[in-house]
Amino acid sequence: MKNSEMIKIFDTTLRDGEQTPGVGLTPDEKLEIARTLDRLGVDTIEAGFPITSKGEIEGVRLIANEGLRAEIAALARAHKTDIDTAVSTGVKCVHVFIATSDIHLQHKLNMTRDEALQTAVKYVKYAKEHGVQVEFSAEDACRSDTEYLIKVLQGVSDAGADRIDIPDTVGVMHPVAMYNLISKVKNAISIPISIHCHNDFGLAVANSLAAVEAGAERVHCTINGLGERAGNASLEEVVMSLHNLYGKKTNINTRLIYEASKLVSRLTGIVVQPNKAIVGENAFGHESGIHTHGLLNMPLTYEPLEPELVGRKRWIQAGKHAGSHGIKAMLDQLAISVSDAQLKEIVARVKDLGDKGKRLTDADLESIADTVLGRVGEEKILQLVDLSVMTGTKSMPTASVKLLVDGKAYVVAETGVGPIDAAIKAIQKLGEGLGNIKLADYRLDAITGGTDALGEVSVKVEDKDGLVATAKATNEDVVVASVEAMIEGMNRLLLKRRVVQPKVAMPNP
Ligand code: KIV
Ligand code: ZN
Repeated sequence: MKNSEMIKIFDTTLRDGEQTPGVGLTPDEKLEIARTLDRLGVDTIEAGFPITSKGEIEGVRLIANEGLRAEIAALARAHKTDIDTAVSTGVKCVHVFIATSDIHLQHKLNMTRDEALQTAVKYVKYAKEHGVQVEFSAEDACRSDTEYLIKVLQGVSDAGADRIDIPDTVGVMHPVAMYNLISKVKNAISIPISIHCHNDFGLAVANSLAAVEAGAERVHCTINGLGERAGNASLEEVVMSLHNLYGKKTNINTRLIYEASKLVSRLTGIVVQPNKAIVGENAFGHESGIHTHGLLNMPLTYEPLEPELVGRKRWIQAGKHAGSHGIKAMLDQLAISVSDAQLKEIVARVKDLGDKGKRLTDADLESIADTVLGRVGEEKILQLVDLSVMTGTKSMPTASVKLLVDGKAYVVAETGVGPIDAAIKAIQKLGEGLGNIKLADYRLDAITGGTDALGEVSVKVEDKDGLVATAKATNEDVVVASVEAMIEGMNRLLLKRRVVQPKVAMPNP
C-alpha cells in the first residue's frame, strides 16, 4: 500500500442521503448543501436522481450550473429516458446503474444475466455518446456471482465507462470479504474502482476502508452517514480514518466537517446521535474526573484527534463523575473565579445533583456557582417588560420585545423562520449595541409529556471578545422560555463584563 495515495471522495448526500426515509430537500436546500460540499473539497457531488421528479431535475440543474469546482454527477438507471434526463441537467458525470445479483434480476428486473449484461453495455455506450464521464454501478454487486460481476464490469469498461463502482447495496459485507472481492475486481479491471457501502450491520466505514486497502480509489459516502435504511458510509468517519489511521490523503478540508454536518442535519431534520464518531455532540465531550484531569494536562491522553481538526471544540460536562480539575476548567471558561474552598463546595454540589440523576448543563453549574459565591439575586441590567409574537401559515413569524436596559426602555422587532427565531433575533439586535452579544448555543427540552409540557431552554451567549455565559429558563410557552433564557444569559454576560469594563455601552434606542 502506498501511503501517499490520494483517495477521491464521491459524496452522495444529495442522492442516496436524500433517500433517507422521511427526507426531502427543496432545490434551494440542495444547492446550499452542494455549495458547502464544494467548499469542503469533495471530488464529486452526486446531486440527485433527476428522473424521479421535476423538483429533482431543477435541483440537479441548479447545482450543475453553479460553477462549482467539484464534478457534478446525476444518477440514471440503464434506461434511455433516465440518461437523457440526467444529461439534460448539464451534469459532467452520469452514474449509470443496473443490478447484477440473481435476487434483483429475478425478483425486480425480470431479466436474465445475459440481458442485464447487454443492457449495461448498451446504456454505458449511450451515455458516453453524450460526452459525459460515466461511472457504472453494478447494483447489489456484493451478492452477485463474482465471475458474472466481473464479466459485466469488463463489458462496461470496454464500452467506455470511465470508472466502475461496487455497491454493497444491502450492507452484507465484512471487511475481509470486501478486501477479497475488490482485490479480484482490481486484478480483472484496469479503470478506477469506487466503493459504495451501506451500513446495515454497522460496517459501512470498515468495509469502505477495506476496499481502499484492496485498491479502490474512490469512496462513496454521505455527511452524517445518511442514506437508505441504516445509511451509507459516513464521509466524516471515512475521511478522518483515511487521514489518521491509513496515512492516505483526500482533498477534504477537514476543518469544515462539523459545519457541513450541522447544515445537513438542520436541512434534512435528521438529528445526529450524540455518540456518533467525529460529529456527534459527545465526540469531544468529557465528564469523568480522571479523563478531564489527564486531558487538561495533555489532550492526547483521552483524545485521538484534536477537535479543531474537524472544526470542533472540546467541552467538559459537570456531573457525578466530574473532578475538581474539570469543574475548575469549566468555571474558568465561564469567567467565574473561585477559592479552593468554594471550588470544593461547588464540586460537592455537582456530585450530589449528579447522584440524583440530574443532567447538569453549563447553566446549572453557573447557578450553583452563583449560590456558593452568594451572587444570587444580583442586579439585572436587562429586564423583560413585554413580548408579543405573531405566527401563522400565511404570515412571516414576527416578534416584538420590550426591554429595560439599565432602566431605559427599548422595543426591538424582528422576523424569523419561527416565533423563537424571530424573538431571539430581536433580542440579538439589541445585543449588537451591548458588545455584539450573540446566541452561541440553544437547546430546548420538553420536561413533561403532552401539549402543556414544560419547555426547558438552555442557552449559551458569547460576546465579540469570546466571553461566554449560560442560562436556563422553564415555561409552558417555549417562546417565553427562550426569551427569558436569552435575557438571563445576556445579563450574566454583561455582569461579568462589568468586572472588566465598569460601564456598559448602550445600544441605540
Ligand atoms: O446502494 C446502491 O446500490 C446504490 C446504487 C444506485 C449505486 O445506491
Ligand atoms: Zn446506495
